Amino acid sequence: RPPVILLSRKLYPSAARRLPQAIIMGVRKCGTRALLEMLYLHPMVQKAAGEVHFFDRDDNYNKGLEWYRMQMPHSYPGQITIEKSPSYFVTPEVPERIRAMNASVKLLLIVREPVTRAISDYTQLRANAATASPVLPTSSSKTFEQLVLHPNGSINEGYRPLAISVYHHYLHRWLEVFTREQILVVNGDLLIEDPVSQIQRIESFLGLEPRIGTHNFYFNETKGFYCLRNETTDRCLRETKGRKHPRVNPKVLSKLRKYFGEHNQKFYDLIGEDLGWPE
Ligand code: A3P
Repeated sequence: RPPVILLSRKLYPSAARRLPQAIIMGVRKCGTRALLEMLYLHPMVQKAAGEVHFFDRDDNYNKGLEWYRMQMPHSYPGQITIEKSPSYFVTPEVPERIRAMNASVKLLLIVREPVTRAISDYTQLRANAATASPVLPTSSSKTFEQLVLHPNGSINEGYRPLAISVYHHYLHRWLEVFTREQILVVNGDLLIEDPVSQIQRIESFLGLEPRIGTHNFYFNETKGFYCLRNETTDRCLRETKGRKHPRVNPKVLSKLRKYFGEHNQKFYDLIGEDLGWPE
């Protein structure tokens, strides 16, 4: 599809770069990349390359909407353009800025059980730090347990991977600007286990004809995740997606799950749905 569009602008004059009609607003480490790539299996979906970071970075936002549009892929009329920038979710200015572009945009919010998300975030930060300074021995980096708890055993709420998992702190701002119906909450843990059922819900939310099915996925035992295929692609996500997590002390895990209990309830109240996360 994209090569045809690019090579044949004369044959298809209606192909153009269009502002996104749908945005994956976050949350980081909840499967934002998997979600975008899975939706891109649909013939009526086009996706922005990389993360555009238009609404959350002032230097990009100040370049204006025309700059943003130029970051989008070519699409045909009727196709949906989607971009994902997970940090939109936690950046205060973003909801109002998106509304100013298009008050009826469709928003996808993918979440995971908050403690699992925090461990995934920690795992990524540690991997990035190891790449940035490979001479530091890995033993010098702090464990997850050391970072989430203060020396006196209380929870270090300021630790960013924990703070980002307190979803209601951020979501309420979005609901001041957008209607609940405009935001689809996607369960990232279910997207891992059963991508088809989740993607079919999203097709319907986006007003797309149902096209994605079991033929688009196969489980890769080595990777431990589903991989994707259609007429033009057959691939798994990169090795930075689906990392092995460190083992976390079960006592710390249960302490964290208890801490999130109240926050999760506030999140369920906001979205009007109980996601059944363990306490
Ligand atoms: P882990 O690497 O911690 O397992 P994001 O793209 O927002 O950074 O999210 C990354 C997460 O996507 C991964 O976290 C992984 O669990 C999840 N994921 C969901 N479906 C996946 C798939 N089919 N292949 C690989 N990772 C997937």
